[in-house]
Amino acid sequence: MNSPILSVRNLGKRFGLLFAARDITVSIPVQQTVGVIGANGAGKTTFINMITGHLRPTNGTIHFEGRDITGLPCRQIKGMGISRSFQVAQIFPSLTVFENMCTAAAIGRAPHTFIGHVCTPLRSRESVVEAETLLELFQIAPYRDRLAATLPQGIRKLLDIGMALAGSPRLLLLDEPTSGISIEEKFSLMQVIMSALNSRKCTVLFVEHDMDIIEGFAERVLAFYDGTVIADGTPAATLADPRVQTLISGPKVRCAVGAAAHV
Ligand SMILES: Nc1ncnc2c1ncn2[C@@H]1O[C@H](COP(=O)(O)OP(=O)(O)OP(=O)(O)O)[C@@H](O)[C@H]1O
Ligand SMILES: [Mg+2]
Repeated sequence: MNSPILSVRNLGKRFGLLFAARDITVSIPVQQTVGVIGANGAGKTTFINMITGHLRPTNGTIHFEGRDITGLPCRQIKGMGISRSFQVAQIFPSLTVFENMCTAAAIGRAPHTFIGHVCTPLRSRESVVEAETLLELFQIAPYRDRLAATLPQGIRKLLDIGMALAGSPRLLLLDEPTSGISIEEKFSLMQVIMSALNSRKCTVLFVEHDMDIIEGFAERVLAFYDGTVIADGTPAATLADPRVQTLISGPKVRCAVGAAAHV
């Protein structure tokens, strides 16, 4: 069996009296595609935030490629090979698609320190080449010269995730990559995203509320409830779990309502 790229043990996060994450123990092998499900407030984003260094865990450990990264600053963790996208796309609205991608490519290549970021030229030959490659990979080259502010939501998502892939992370965490996307468009959007990430041999963990997308794209599913993982297995096994059906997924009509609530 593959050695884990990510290994989390007894991870927890407390905000005052609230346990947003409790006793999470998970190992993810290299190149696995893992879906994360759970109702609003279940702790999915908190879990991602602890891995990326945006939140310091209250207890537990996180190892990435065998190295302890628990509590390290997010810039350092990114430099080690973990990248992410947020629930809301993090792009520069007043720049063009190409300028956004080029900036991400330049930052992705820079030393992951404050000075490294400040002193990095935003238009080196290498970052231009990487930006053009990512635009093709995410099928957004036709939008190259459009201002990001004017993009349709799906293209905005592709740009955001393409930017997260700049710098060639080995682990990518996607927080609701299809939020704000119509049910009709979600599937094709995920196909573009996943084929791009697979071609870069990236290990992927993605948060998703739509169970059809989970079944279509995850090899494994972690189900979160009240800050902890209540089921972990293949999509078929996790979605058939009675606790998951009662507490999270429910009948299909409830999944669609859950997804719509995020639009
Ligand atoms: N910085 C914070 N300070 C206080 N409470 C927080 C903070 N961040 C998250 N929480 C709380 O922790 C719990 C888990 O939140 P989290 O954002 O991880 O949920 P989620 O599963 O991502 O939900 P959603 O599906 O709505 O995005 C919630 O009760 C939330 O209100
Ligand atoms: Mg969240």
